[in-house]
Amino acid sequence: KEIAIAIDGPAGSGKSTIAKAIAGRFNYIYIDSGAMYRAVTLKALQLGLDLQNEAELTLLAHTIQIQLQYKKGVCGQPELRVIVDGNDESEAIRSLEVTSNVSVVAAVAGVREAMVNLQRKMADASGVVMDGRDIGTVVLPGAELKVFLTASAEERGKRRWLELQAKGIQTDLAELTDQIRKRDLFDSTRQVNPLRQAPDAILLDTTSLTIEEVIERLMSMALE
Ligand code: C5P
Repeated sequence: KEIAIAIDGPAGSGKSTIAKAIAGRFNYIYIDSGAMYRAVTLKALQLGLDLQNEAELTLLAHTIQIQLQYKKGVCGQPELRVIVDGNDESEAIRSLEVTSNVSVVAAVAGVREAMVNLQRKMADASGVVMDGRDIGTVVLPGAELKVFLTASAEERGKRRWLELQAKGIQTDLAELTDQIRKRDLFDSTRQVNPLRQAPDAILLDTTSLTIEEVIERLMSMALE
């Protein structure tokens, strides 16, 4: 039986890596909800919008066209491409500028309303894995499997640092860890749909687990 799997957690907890792998193994669709808030943020920056202007951001979120597409990447692994108003912005949405502004944009009620509607529409099929901050609590409250991934801030900082390093981007580990802490604090203390573990979600601390171990635990939970 195909099910909906909701994976939430703070930045760098391994959500997207795990969600992608699970979707690949079960042949489910993968929806990266964070990529959608990033797309709105990128577009707002490109348009030179005032990020304090909630009305403008809300209008943008309701009119923006976001498509999540899969292309065959290296080694045959499917690769997520994020198309924003017809342009492939997959790399641009991961920039440091977008990363440092996305939480402010994602805290706007009107932006969340538009994205949650879009996310539910995209998930309107069986066999879906969605990752984010409010998937188990708000977007897919009826998901058959909900997992909340965590890891220590130091470990999450290290993972992000390695990820950027692999892309040839040099960053300062302490600064990166601090940035992650700040983003999590902001995401978990905002008024609308804060980062929260759903009461029926399974908590999994991945600090000392390998990616393969986390994938295996989730696969067995899904098959229960
Ligand atoms: O997952 P990712 O780090 O790409 O998410 C970027 C930002 O988007 C988060 O820090 C958060 O502010 C916002 N977000 C959210 N709700 C989600 C997914 C992401 O508010 N479901």
